[in-house]
Amino acid sequence: MTDTTSTPTPSDAPREVRLVARPVGWPTPADFELATSEVPELADGQLRVRNVVMSVDPYMRGRMSAAKSYAAPFAVGEAMGGGAVGVVEESRADGFAVGDHVLHALGWREVAVVDASSARVVDVERAPASAYLGILGMTGLTAYAGLTRIASLKEGDVVFVSGAAGAVGGAVGQLAKALGASRVIGSAGSAEKVRHLVEDLGFDAAFNYKDGPVAKQLREAAPDGIDVYFDNVGGEHLEAAVGSLNLGGRIAVCGMISVYNDTEPSPGPRNLARLIQTRGLIQGFLVGDHYDLAGEYAERAAGWLADGTLTSRETFADGIEHAVDAFLGVLKGENTGKMVVRL
Ligand SMILES: NC(=O)c1ccc[n+]([C@@H]2O[C@H](COP(=O)([O-])OP(=O)(O)OC[C@H]3O[C@@H](n4cnc5c(N)ncnc54)[C@H](OP(=O)(O)O)[C@@H]3O)[C@@H](O)[C@H]2O)c1
Repeated sequence: MTDTTSTPTPSDAPREVRLVARPVGWPTPADFELATSEVPELADGQLRVRNVVMSVDPYMRGRMSAAKSYAAPFAVGEAMGGGAVGVVEESRADGFAVGDHVLHALGWREVAVVDASSARVVDVERAPASAYLGILGMTGLTAYAGLTRIASLKEGDVVFVSGAAGAVGGAVGQLAKALGASRVIGSAGSAEKVRHLVEDLGFDAAFNYKDGPVAKQLREAAPDGIDVYFDNVGGEHLEAAVGSLNLGGRIAVCGMISVYNDTEPSPGPRNLARLIQTRGLIQGFLVGDHYDLAGEYAERAAGWLADGTLTSRETFADGIEHAVDAFLGVLKGENTGKMVVRL
């Protein structure tokens, strides 16, 4: 509970990334500004945290729009937020000491004043700080909740996941195998990502969705159909998955990144009548509704990481001045695994 740091001088003043314009269609660097932060004195119950790593995620695109959604829009002219892990530099809260690493939601800045009630101490001896943004954090839990609770994964299921070389998708494929799927198929946007899925992550088959129609490539990879589709992409992928769905198939709708930058709503799958024949189920979900699974997942994930069943890949950008490029890179597929910005 003591302050061990000196007041920053202007030359080392911490910086933050602000949204300065709401993007229409694809965001551009002009929609953001790197600015010097005002770091207020701490009130009781607060921590001053120097961020070490911060997350950039596709869902942040939604928060850049004014449209009402499950998460409040970012305010124009203010720093954005998102997952981050940092070191406590000053604490006015019981249970948090200087030097602790904490996970919190005030990313996009080098130094954050955080309410201790919204921070959690994480053990960086057990896993690197970035893992708490990815495989041991929101990303891993999204994959686990989507497979177990929404898709009701059963032993022997054939599972298809899109965005498979990304953070959530890579976890989905590996967790599906660990939970008894008989065959796991992934789609991704480059030959190198397809290789990574099969050779590094143990997918049974993978294809590059840019090589040809998704429906055709999926039928070739899953000639007997699929029982579960974990959707990260929407659009053509969703229609292809409906077309390959087996009797009693389940579709967990996690994300639809292919439409996040659309300015006009695109038509939905044209083949939904197939859900009648297959008695298929399709359900969207938000990880925020499934934090009750976090303890169970953390325990199982620790075991799977220790025995090599689960591995996690990360793509790093360095410096807050590259955070916007890293975010735009996620939307364009420049990441394999979790995109993390080191500060
Ligand atoms: N429901 C929830 O609670 C929840 C929680 C977390 C994430 N999500 C969603 O889950 C999805 C994955 O998130 P993530 O954080 O793991 O991101 P990610 O998969 O690590 O990164 C996004 C990936 O999407 C792919 N992509 C971009 N445009 C595409 C397109 N038009 N068609 C197909 N693929 C495209 C890119 O890979 P390629 O090179 O393969 O194109 C890119 O690497 C997103 O849709 C996100 O919104 C939902």
